[in-house]
Amino acid sequence: MGNSVRVENLRKVFEGRGGSGQVVAVDGVSLEVKDGSLVTLLGPSGCGKTTVLRMIAGFETPTGGEIYIGDERITAVPANKRRTSMVFQSYGLFPHMSVYDNIGYGLRIRRVPAPEIRDRVFSMLDLVDLKGTEARLPSQLSGGQQQRVALARALITEPRVLLFDEPLSNLDAKLRVQMRQEIRRLQQRLRITSVYVTHDQDEAMTLSDRIVLMHRGRIEQVGTPQEIYNRPRTLFVADFIGKGNFLAGTVRAVDGGRAEVEIPQGRLWVSTEGFHPTDPVWLLLRPEAIALGPPGTGRWQGHVAAATYLGSEMFYDVMVGGQSLLVKVVHLRGVGLLGSGDPVGVLFEEGSLHLVGREAAS
Ligand SMILES: Nc1ncnc2c1ncn2[C@@H]1O[C@H](COP(=O)(O)OP(=O)(O)OP(=O)(O)O)[C@@H](O)[C@H]1O
Ligand SMILES: [Mg+2]
Repeated sequence: MGNSVRVENLRKVFEGRGGSGQVVAVDGVSLEVKDGSLVTLLGPSGCGKTTVLRMIAGFETPTGGEIYIGDERITAVPANKRRTSMVFQSYGLFPHMSVYDNIGYGLRIRRVPAPEIRDRVFSMLDLVDLKGTEARLPSQLSGGQQQRVALARALITEPRVLLFDEPLSNLDAKLRVQMRQEIRRLQQRLRITSVYVTHDQDEAMTLSDRIVLMHRGRIEQVGTPQEIYNRPRTLFVADFIGKGNFLAGTVRAVDGGRAEVEIPQGRLWVSTEGFHPTDPVWLLLRPEAIALGPPGTGRWQGHVAAATYLGSEMFYDVMVGGQSLLVKVVHLRGVGLLGSGDPVGVLFEEGSLHLVGREAAS
């Protein structure tokens, strides 16, 4: 069990000020973060990610439900006794304190002797690759360096659980990619149980052992990045993660783990479970699962309506029987590029198809 985090049926209702009504921010969330693993809470703005994180940290009191670290029920334990550490988007560094004092802060308030603080601060500086900056003020560091100070300050107290709330949002795109790799490397090296809040799907994909996808205070799906991408359970998940083509269809037959789906372009068999004949469904076809061939090849015939050049890849809008399909093609130095109006054959494999439920009459 170690330092796993377990949340059971967690709820948070904010009472509106002056009778302005209630906000159900978190509506029955249960999840487990295994000891030493990293789980991201992913979802659109306002879905309740930060509120869940703040309840785990003890900054917010749950309206209902329980929180455990390992075997210990911590729902009513004060924040400063939980041995969790939070890393914020805004870094939260003390502007008038040196890097050294910022990192050592948590030990000073715990009255750790100065020589030990010194040793531990220097080993942290080493860990986050900031040796030589200890005398500087935060304003004399780059954004990425400031975030590393924040990380060192969170780690120095040896928390049981590390909590991150959009820690990289203030960094530019390139630095964000670099920092998320650093965070992942550090987290795996220290095997520290971590909960990471983000609304950035790429960040969630690259960092996570598991992703918890939230929507309106509830969990839509929990799974590994691959499960979430390849086997989304709902339209919301399929649409939130990556790009997709959604074709409205109806199940016509089922047979041992497969379903036959009718869409305007014809009928197709799809590996799936849990659907029944007459069920309305969305057939999901990812843009990279489609290939384009010469006219006459493949399952469907169409023509290119638009082509977008993105350097290493092309995005085509291909019209097939009145429906537009997005197709992603990785190309080699412009070989075989297609242009608007070109006729094409549309190719894909049955194994790349996926079904999610569709509300009837939508
Ligand atoms: N102190 C508060 N009082 C009232 N409502 C709040 C409070 N804190 C959050 N909320 C509401 O609870 C809901 C969830 O907020 P939360 O901050 O958890 O969302 P989030 O998923 O972290 O969003 P974002 O990606 O924008 O940070 C929102 O509707 C928000 O307006
Ligand atoms: Mg938030």
